[in-house]
Amino acid sequence: MAKDVIIALDMPNRASVMSFLDRFGGEKPWVKIGMELFYAEGPEIVREIKRRGFHIFLDLKLCDIPNTVRGAMRSLRPLGVDIINLHAFGAAEMMRAAVEGLTDEDGGRETKLIAVTILTSTSEEALRREMLIDRPMADACIAYAENAKGAGLDGVVCSPLESPVIHGRCGEGFLTVTPGVRFAGGERGDQVRVTTPEKASALGSDYIVMGRPITGAADPVAAWERARAEFLGGNA
Ligand code: C5P
Repeated sequence: MAKDVIIALDMPNRASVMSFLDRFGGEKPWVKIGMELFYAEGPEIVREIKRRGFHIFLDLKLCDIPNTVRGAMRSLRPLGVDIINLHAFGAAEMMRAAVEGLTDEDGGRETKLIAVTILTSTSEEALRREMLIDRPMADACIAYAENAKGAGLDGVVCSPLESPVIHGRCGEGFLTVTPGVRFAGGERGDQVRVTTPEKASALGSDYIVMGRPITGAADPVAAWERARAEFLGGNA
């Protein structure tokens, strides 16, 4: 899969999403559909956006017993999204079950499956005191990425700053899909560790996820074009 910019559609309903996507005319960016929109509108919103020709990362972060996740992935498979995710915290057996659920009768799999390692909202303090993980955050993230790779997943969601070490440990073909990206000199919002599209590219991110710097821009199409030009360089 070619590198690209994924726009996070953190919007509450169909009307706001469709008026946003209409602005792109014939252009068909990658978009990320998360829990907010999916739970409000159901799977039909995914079908509609796919029918309109957009590439879709369905960010539902599944985590449950293996049998339930296998069934959930089987239910989601017909949507034919490009990328879907789960929590590596659910452990290897659950991740293998998810791969099975996404695999069709002929043994093929249309949808890439990636794992969230540890949420970036988790502090070192919470990791140790509440989640009882007595290792530095970075080590835990890398270990979770290796578990995901071992279970047959295609990549992880991580910070661009973690892309080099994850590619080093899990292989260059293991996808790193990276949020926390901001234009130079732009608003950070609530993101703490931020990287520019150009820096994310230099660090080897396969996809960058950008929400508010594009959705909140006065001209979202121009912001998306700028993000692509900076991230893809001459290949935009
Ligand atoms: O608006 P912004 O660019 O911060 O949006 C980033 C998107 O990536 C949001 O949808 C957010 O939920 C998601 N995300 C993140 N950090 C993670 C995982 C997902 O910001 N570690």
